[in-house]
Amino acid sequence: MSLIQLLRVTKEYRLGRTTVHALRGIDLSFERGEFAALWGPSGSGKSSLLNLVGLVDVPTSGRVILDGRDTAGLDDGERAGLRNRQIGIVFQSFNLISVLTALENVMLPLTLAGTSSATARHAALLRLGQVGLEGQAHQRPDQLSGGQRQRVAIARALVTDPLVVIADEPTANLDAATGHQIIELMRSLNRSQSVTFVFSTHDPRLLDAVDRLIRISDGRIVDAKEAAA
Ligand SMILES: Nc1ncnc2c1ncn2[C@@H]1O[C@H](COP(=O)(O)OP(=O)(O)OP(=O)(O)O)[C@@H](O)[C@H]1O
Ligand SMILES: [Mg+2]
Repeated sequence: MSLIQLLRVTKEYRLGRTTVHALRGIDLSFERGEFAALWGPSGSGKSSLLNLVGLVDVPTSGRVILDGRDTAGLDDGERAGLRNRQIGIVFQSFNLISVLTALENVMLPLTLAGTSSATARHAALLRLGQVGLEGQAHQRPDQLSGGQRQRVAIARALVTDPLVVIADEPTANLDAATGHQIIELMRSLNRSQSVTFVFSTHDPRLLDAVDRLIRISDGRIVDAKEAAA
């Protein structure tokens, strides 16, 4: 059974009197442990697709099945609950809370879910160690570099042991070398801990690192072959 299945998924946005057809019928599945990139020009539908994979948004038609569970029947609260437990999200702009330390940011998803502070702290320190930031646990985001902030965001995405981490252009706000390090970090977490990553990029330099490249154009998958091993 696939970890995530999208079946005949479409996404339309209403803009005044016009309808934007962002996704025009997507059939796609992801397996456990995949390291996959969505690649395509601006406006091709990458963010729309990631938002459906991450249960951030709902399709206009078609089905999104997560770990065997059809998400179509869920109400907003149930979807949010499933997302908080099962999906890790990494944003282009990091989205850290500026008044919290790196450690507190990483603890937050667990704290919000009612985990005890000692347990959350232990899990967060472990994840900060895995992204190479054990020494920066008590620094706030404004005391960290862009690459370090994105590492904190990756640690935060992992702290709930999600089924999948989605990352929408996780390197877009980083210089090329730092962006490459972030992709390498995700790659090593994918290999060492079988974390499933689906990310989007329009940087062709990042594509060598992926197992699977899914090209998207004008709301359609144009090529989803496995990359050469
Ligand atoms: N909330 C929205 N309301 C209206 N139209 C939207 C909305 N979000 C996206 N769109 C439109 O849907 C299409 C796909 O957008 P999407 O953001 O998925 O593309 P993208 O591939 O992520 O682009 P980029 O590389 O610029 O991030 C575009 O035509 C966009 O203008
Ligand atoms: Mg986008």
